[in-house]
Amino acid sequence: MERRDFIKSACLTCAGSIGAAWLLQACTPQKYITNVTVKESKLVIKKSEFAVVKKDKTIQQKFILVKPENTQFPIAIYKLNENEYKALYLQCTHQGCELSPHETMMVCPCHGAEFNPKGEVTTGPAETNLKSFLTTTDNENIYIQL
Ligand code: FES
Repeated sequence: MERRDFIKSACLTCAGSIGAAWLLQACTPQKYITNVTVKESKLVIKKSEFAVVKKDKTIQQKFILVKPENTQFPIAIYKLNENEYKALYLQCTHQGCELSPHETMMVCPCHGAEFNPKGEVTTGPAETNLKSFLTTTDNENIYIQL
């Protein structure tokens, strides 16, 4: 491959990656929950926080975000099914960058590691699953043990 072709190919690849990352980010609604109470070192979040109304339709989000005062990074709460939630600390287990959450995965902007909504590594270089918090529920709320 000639130098000119190589540079052209590298530039297109780079632009494509940036465009894909931008699209991924642009399509993912991110909702920080501010209506959070703390009871006995547990975050208490209403299940109804997953619902958003758009154009007269109620849509259930796949995840919501909270940022407790005493943590450096946010916590993503994924709704795995009707009664199962997973609370994950958004710090990459490779070198500690803040993860970018999306509906089906979390992506590390530093070196490209990816994690699924259960916090399991799906793409390296990270080798360890994300830190998760014990999560329980009742009919109305989700309780996250900090
Ligand atoms: S810090 Fe996340 S992949 Fe390196």
